[in-house]
Amino acid sequence: MSTPSALLQVMIGAARKAGRRLARDFGEVSELQVSRKGPADFVSNADTKAEEIVIEELAKARPGYGFLAEERGLVEGTDKTHTWIVDPLDGTTNFLHGVPHFAVNIALEREGAVVAGVTYNPATNELFWAEKGKGCFLNDKRLRVAARRQLIDSLLATGIPFAGRPGHGQFLKELHQIAQRVSGVRRFGSAALDLAYVAAGRFDGYWERGLSAWDVAAGGLMVLEAGGTISSIEGEAFDVRGGSVLASNLDLHPEILERLKAAAA
Ligand code: IPD
Ligand code: CA
Ligand code: CA
Repeated sequence: MSTPSALLQVMIGAARKAGRRLARDFGEVSELQVSRKGPADFVSNADTKAEEIVIEELAKARPGYGFLAEERGLVEGTDKTHTWIVDPLDGTTNFLHGVPHFAVNIALEREGAVVAGVTYNPATNELFWAEKGKGCFLNDKRLRVAARRQLIDSLLATGIPFAGRPGHGQFLKELHQIAQRVSGVRRFGSAALDLAYVAAGRFDGYWERGLSAWDVAAGGLMVLEAGGTISSIEGEAFDVRGGSVLASNLDLHPEILERLKAAAA
């Protein structure tokens, strides 16, 4: 069944509305590339505006729920059991450079557990969504993680730390352990879409450190609802606020984990 619940429809409506705005601004970004200053301020405004749209739409439909949103941080609601976790623009660097790979990312946490997630890329019109116990979908198609069992056949995604982030040496050790054993490693630049792509079976696995709750809350649920698994890079239970993730199907997870542990040794 691919009809989203009333809750999901609220989230999808908010993601699409913010996405329309981002798509419009994305069209302008290329014009600004040629200016000396570049489009950085413009993009930061687009980001802020998208977050305002998401928050306004969600608050209208579910007054009282709290927010954990990238641009404004934690805003407690009167309803302490529900928190929206929002990244209005995941893949900012892509957006800034005119690369059409970015997403609006929204999750709902109920009593500490993520129960629904939406990831929407307005540039491709791909809408990934999942609800706890009800499956994961891309537009109206049900998703399953890839069935590959051999690391050698697998395509993995990751995130490379960039200027100002820690962990460059550690990342190179991990890449060394993984790259020689797989078909390929990709760095696409949106953690939200990386996880959605694992759920869709496009990537066989994904690992990254230094992430925030708004990067992984929606996609973590998507991977689980698509029949996959997700943990920290150390193999601990997945925690949206834990910082690192390793997501894949159940067959590949132990071996990828082993290689990442070897990189830490
Ligand atoms: C970033 C992206 C990127 C990941 C970074 C995130 P942002 O989010 O998800 O892929 O490597 O760690 O911070 O800044 O584009 O919202
Ligand atoms: Ca992000
Ligand atoms: Ca962001």
